[in-house]
Amino acid sequence: MNKSFSIAGKVAVITGAGGVIGGNIAKHFIAQGAKVVAIDIRRKQLDACIGELTANGGEAIGFVGNVLDVESLKKAAAQIVEKWGRIDILLNIAGGNTPDGTLAPDADFFDMPVAEWEKVTTLNMNGTVYPSMVFGKVMAQQKSGSIINVSSMAAYSAITRVPGYSAAKSAVANFTQWLATEMALKYGDRIRVNAIAPGFFIGDQNRAVLINPDGSLTERSIKVLAKTPMKRFGDITELDSAVQFLCSDAASFITGALLPIDGGFSAFSGV
Ligand SMILES: NC(=O)c1ccc[n+]([C@@H]2O[C@H](COP(=O)([O-])OP(=O)(O)OC[C@H]3O[C@@H](n4cnc5c(N)ncnc54)[C@H](O)[C@@H]3O)[C@@H](O)[C@H]2O)c1
Repeated sequence: MNKSFSIAGKVAVITGAGGVIGGNIAKHFIAQGAKVVAIDIRRKQLDACIGELTANGGEAIGFVGNVLDVESLKKAAAQIVEKWGRIDILLNIAGGNTPDGTLAPDADFFDMPVAEWEKVTTLNMNGTVYPSMVFGKVMAQQKSGSIINVSSMAAYSAITRVPGYSAAKSAVANFTQWLATEMALKYGDRIRVNAIAPGFFIGDQNRAVLINPDGSLTERSIKVLAKTPMKRFGDITELDSAVQFLCSDAASFITGALLPIDGGFSAFSGV
């Protein structure tokens, strides 16, 4: 059976579209003929994203919204269904570490600011669960759809200094399996839920810990590259086709999977 990799004409909701990874995937989706609904909490970045997506006739609309606010997500879902009649794809990309969620090299875990732990775990975990509840409900009614979550290398093995981020991204991997199972059992085999686990890509959330102000590599990024067999950071565009594949009919029997896109980081023991 020859299945299509096409996402043309599909309605794709992308949270965190004002950021590095979300914005880039949104551009790729527009280039592939998808209709994009961009959601981000930062108005300026969202406006810039929508400007780029629509510049050459792409079909995109934006909502300033908080993935932790279920009511505002419900309002967005109702407007999307009114405009385009359906929601085919949800990319849960909003998330990331917070600067204060990273323990300083000499900091003690026992003194970790609890408020930061709560902020980073809530954003990454609940910020994936709540949009899945709201937009996933539309998919359940349609009996079709594809949800992609964003986990991390931290889901495979411990990454120092980022306890909250690691715990939450591991939870995202587990929730992906849980929701994949729930959707298939209750709503049929045309609703799939998968996750990607990006390796190291330079984004706003991690730039300061990977790149020194003078542009040189930090001690941490030297360690990252030492454990990456491909010996480089990912190029942000290297996520595009993997996400497209998982959303397309070509992946019709894939659900509950966690796909590493990491230059081999998760495969390599370091020895
Ligand atoms: N960059 C990497 O190397 C890397 C690696 C693994 C995983 N990730 C994950 O990929 C995702 C995107 O990362 P990025 O590098 O593009 O980060 P980014 O900071 O550039 O983008 C994240 C976007 O999410 C938005 N956002 C934050 N809180 C929000 C909220 N409550 N509601 C709505 N929007 C909100 C931000 O405004 C921002 O535009 C994150 O989940 C991150 O954890 C990134």
